[in-house]
Amino acid sequence: MDRGMVLFVGALLTFTSSWLGLVLFPFWQLQNQPPYRSEPTDDPYPRPLQGLAWVGMKVYQQSGCMYCHSQQIRSDRFGNWWEEPIGMMRTGGDIKRGWGLRRTVPRDYIYDYPTMLGTMRTGPDLSNVGSRYSALWQHIHTYNPRAFNNWSIMPSFAYLYRKEKIVGSRSEKALPLGREWTVHPGYRWRPSEAEWELILREQGTYILTSYLAETPQPDNLNLATLQGKRQLLEYWLATPEEDWQLVPTPQAEALVAYLLTLRKAEYPLPEAKE
Ligand code: HEC
Repeated sequence: MDRGMVLFVGALLTFTSSWLGLVLFPFWQLQNQPPYRSEPTDDPYPRPLQGLAWVGMKVYQQSGCMYCHSQQIRSDRFGNWWEEPIGMMRTGGDIKRGWGLRRTVPRDYIYDYPTMLGTMRTGPDLSNVGSRYSALWQHIHTYNPRAFNNWSIMPSFAYLYRKEKIVGSRSEKALPLGREWTVHPGYRWRPSEAEWELILREQGTYILTSYLAETPQPDNLNLATLQGKRQLLEYWLATPEEDWQLVPTPQAEALVAYLLTLRKAEYPLPEAKE
């Protein structure tokens, strides 16, 4: 055999063996995993996505959430953390953080298509996020992550919401957000001193009247003082804009329905021991 041939056969064997070991054998082993139930009366786990949640999975895909969020919970043996009271290094960061009750295994993903394991953890793992927050929390957070954590670097997905003029009464679906979050989508808004003076001159009496009406024990707010003006500003920023409301588009509702179904690693599986 000349050298070229040796090189060719060597390369072929290298690539074939890694393809067999990393692709074909795992595929044979894992391709036909059935859903599981530990008691005959239990519902099978996992279950396929249905209806709105399925549409939401598409919105999740289109919005690129998986570039910052993984959906895989690591075993107890990975991820170190320091336990202060006993002064010891412990393992199992993901489970300690409350991201799931156990590690995820291939069976958790049999109905995921595509599987969005993710590669980066710029934000927390979302495999089990459905058990952590309410629908309303998810909507507000998607509209403006800074509304909960002012340090959040997650982008605002404000285009999934519609700001519209209220005709009749406020919609039940409208997000209960003060104007500080809704005037400039994605940011927190505050008027400058001069702007606030102007607003006070035009609507001061109205704002003061509603402050007094809504505060159970109103204090003697003096608009002539700087402190009085600031206090009224805090109140006014925390109330929704009068004629406007912020409602989720069908895409936002679907996305939140999907996030609420993300409850991987809650149901026990025999192969996931840790
Ligand atoms: C640029 C990276 C980035 C992208 C893209 C991104 N996120 Fe985030 N996400 C973060 C970061 C950072 C946090 C943690 C801070 C916070 O709670 O806002 C977070 C937090 C979250 C949380 C709260 C998780 C928890 O356990 O507290 C949810 C839910 C979430 N993101 C959903 C989404 C969804 C849905 C999308 C796509 C529409 C998305 N994220 C896109 C970075 C990102």
